[in-house]
Amino acid sequence: MAYTLKEAVAPGAVTQLAPPQSTYGSDILTVKNLSKIFGPKPERAAALLKQGMGRNEVLEQTGNMVAVNNVSLSVRAGEIFVIMGLSGSGKSTLVRLLNRLIEPTSGQVILEGRDIAPMSTLELREVRRKKMAMVFQSFALLPNRTVLDNIAYGLEVAGIPKAERYEVARKVLVRVGLGSYEKFLPSELSGGMQQRVGLARALAVNPSVLLMDEAFSALDPLIRSEMQNELLRLQKEEQRTIVFISHDIEEAIKIGGRIGIMKDGSLIQVGTPAELIQSPADDYVRDFFRNVDISRFLKASSMLSPAGRALLNCTLASPASSQLNRLIDSGAECGYVCDDTGRYLGCVTPASLHQAGDAAVAEALLADVRTVTLDADLNQLAAIALEQEHDVPVLDGSGKLAGVVSCRNILKQVMERRQS
Ligand SMILES: Nc1ncnc2c1ncn2[C@@H]1O[C@H](COP(=O)(O)OP(=O)(O)OP(=O)(O)O)[C@@H](O)[C@H]1O
Ligand SMILES: [Mg+2]
Repeated sequence: MAYTLKEAVAPGAVTQLAPPQSTYGSDILTVKNLSKIFGPKPERAAALLKQGMGRNEVLEQTGNMVAVNNVSLSVRAGEIFVIMGLSGSGKSTLVRLLNRLIEPTSGQVILEGRDIAPMSTLELREVRRKKMAMVFQSFALLPNRTVLDNIAYGLEVAGIPKAERYEVARKVLVRVGLGSYEKFLPSELSGGMQQRVGLARALAVNPSVLLMDEAFSALDPLIRSEMQNELLRLQKEEQRTIVFISHDIEEAIKIGGRIGIMKDGSLIQVGTPAELIQSPADDYVRDFFRNVDISRFLKASSMLSPAGRALLNCTLASPASSQLNRLIDSGAECGYVCDDTGRYLGCVTPASLHQAGDAAVAEALLADVRTVTLDADLNQLAAIALEQEHDVPVLDGSGKLAGVVSCRNILKQVMERRQS
């Protein structure tokens, strides 16, 4: 049966469980200058931080632990935002600040346009139950309740009538592939299955944002990979917004649309895997990617340079000789012939134009120059560079010349990967 979780929430429940309303791609969760300092004198620690003192020094001098330090970020509706960092870098604290399981020392958390700081305990409880469901590493299931009851429980505390909550729970259970396990106790399930129940329980309330703290870390690799695929499917089919904490770079790359890297309580860089790989803010970020085969993340779109003066705007019927001087003057080894809309027609060299003489430019086109699209990766580019001596023209979706990737750049990138 094909249905989405939005449909899975029974009509009566919809009024109580407001479904995610933010438009895809808009900011749904915004964090501004958020800090958490544990210890006796957070104000003093904050003042020392402002003066530029490091986290360890602050700890030594004041006994305060700066767990999260002035973090600002925005999560967009429908994305999986991964927070990565070494142990102790503040990931769990940050995610608990998002739903105020931990009170911030300073800063703001704005969910769907509403600041959660001034909310009453009651309102906050509502937010946690309905808007920001959390999936924990330890599953946190009720041991004496069946799988179905565990899922329904979250809806029960949200005040959903019994018939409705069991209907929703059953549908969500099917959704995570455990339709026939509703009567089992958590202890009768494998770790992976228990985590699916944890996921189903969070999804049942149709939250605006799903918070997942190392949710797959306790699972063995095969099950873990399955769960990652499951999550990607949910995100794709239902535009789920997910904040996912991980310290595994492979996992972060696989599921993260964007990744935020935390170090000593600070968020030091946010970007897509490709952005972080190409322009890491420092060695800490670079080190995360050191043992990863990143060729597949390096795309032609980020390696190209403009054709510049090598661009020859003319028709294929114009005489080759009319373009020869232009190309020689440009100093380029190749010219890229494009029509007046920018559509790529082919590649020429001074030699091929010279040879064609007064014949049409069409006669001067090189037969063996392969082009790629913007999303070609380094592996594909390297394979082409092995076979052709000319740089590689890159075309956009409508066949226009977006730029050129030089063989030299391809070689450089391949060499850099080898060294790392
Ligand atoms: N309740 C607390 N009281 C005092 N210090 C705390 C508390 N909770 C966390 N910390 C400290 O804050 C820092 C960040 O901890 P946090 O649990 O957020 O890190 P993490 O990035 O999630 O680490 P891990 O990858 O090991 O889960 C750590 O140095 C930790 O000791
Ligand atoms: Mg943690």
